[in-house]
Amino acid sequence: MTWTASAPSNIALIKYMGKAPGNQNIPLNASLSYTLPNLTTAVELIANPGADSDTWEPLSEKDGFIAPQLSIQAQTRFLKHLERIKLLFNCDETFVVRSANNFPHGTGLASSASSFAALTKAAVLACSACTNTPTPDISYQANLSRLGSGSSCRSFFEPWALWENEKVNAIKLPFERLIHQVILIDTHEKEVSSSEAHRRVSQLPDYPDRKVRAEARLHDLIQALKNDNWTEAYQITVDEFEDMHALFNQCTPSFSYITDKSREILETLHEYWQAAQDGPLITMDAGPNIHLLYRPTQQEMADNLKHELISRGAHVI
Ligand code: DP6
Repeated sequence: MTWTASAPSNIALIKYMGKAPGNQNIPLNASLSYTLPNLTTAVELIANPGADSDTWEPLSEKDGFIAPQLSIQAQTRFLKHLERIKLLFNCDETFVVRSANNFPHGTGLASSASSFAALTKAAVLACSACTNTPTPDISYQANLSRLGSGSSCRSFFEPWALWENEKVNAIKLPFERLIHQVILIDTHEKEVSSSEAHRRVSQLPDYPDRKVRAEARLHDLIQALKNDNWTEAYQITVDEFEDMHALFNQCTPSFSYITDKSREILETLHEYWQAAQDGPLITMDAGPNIHLLYRPTQQEMADNLKHELISRGAHVI
């Protein structure tokens, strides 16, 4: 028997950064994300009766899906999440897990949100079938997925997801269809994983101030989007990612993902906004790449800016 599922990635405009003590991936502050249907992970779970343990292998490449080269550490983390779901269902089947992403290989683009969401969906289907149990609802699945990787719980909702403590849901906001671009700055595996970034940030003595700032921005961003105030949304999202990256500099040991190249391109983007009094929303995750979100009416701008950035040597997808 084979069970398959796929799930999209998401990009946070108000970031999940810092976790409550314990291993439940409970965020220290609420976050808001936009779901990215074009960046998807597909997972296949094949029953493998009699095998000693679950194993992972790349899903064969088809329909634009490219198998990732998961490190042993990443495979272990993935299979541990499957084990967690099997235990919950009392499922004693063993599986071969196959996965692939439809985003270009070696781009350094994070896939943990889409891969844990897709694995959770496939595992829940498989375990429900194997144990003759009803398939749990999406909220339950999202919370289960959160235990594997926090940000994956937002990938169960679209186009906007709001996550606070153990509650994650779709939130109705204008701008339901946005154009997404990523400026790839560095395609190498990052030295400090986002889980490690959470750990270090959670230890900062003035973290409570960060929570206040992030949640005030969350409130203001929701208002700005509801009021169709794109310029204010741009200012808030820039303040938010700059705030998160400033926290990384304050950690012990400190670390940074923003490179000279990222800074140079950010400068170009802000100049563009100055001149046009319009532009894309700009954000960065725990990495050097820059994400841009445009309104559908900005398609021409998106094409022109992409062209300009490429002519300056940037790699834009
Ligand atoms: C910077 O969800 O990758 O992208 O829960 O440890 O798996 P774990 O962390 P992860 O953290 C993502 C952090 C972020 C911001 C965000 O997506 O909100």
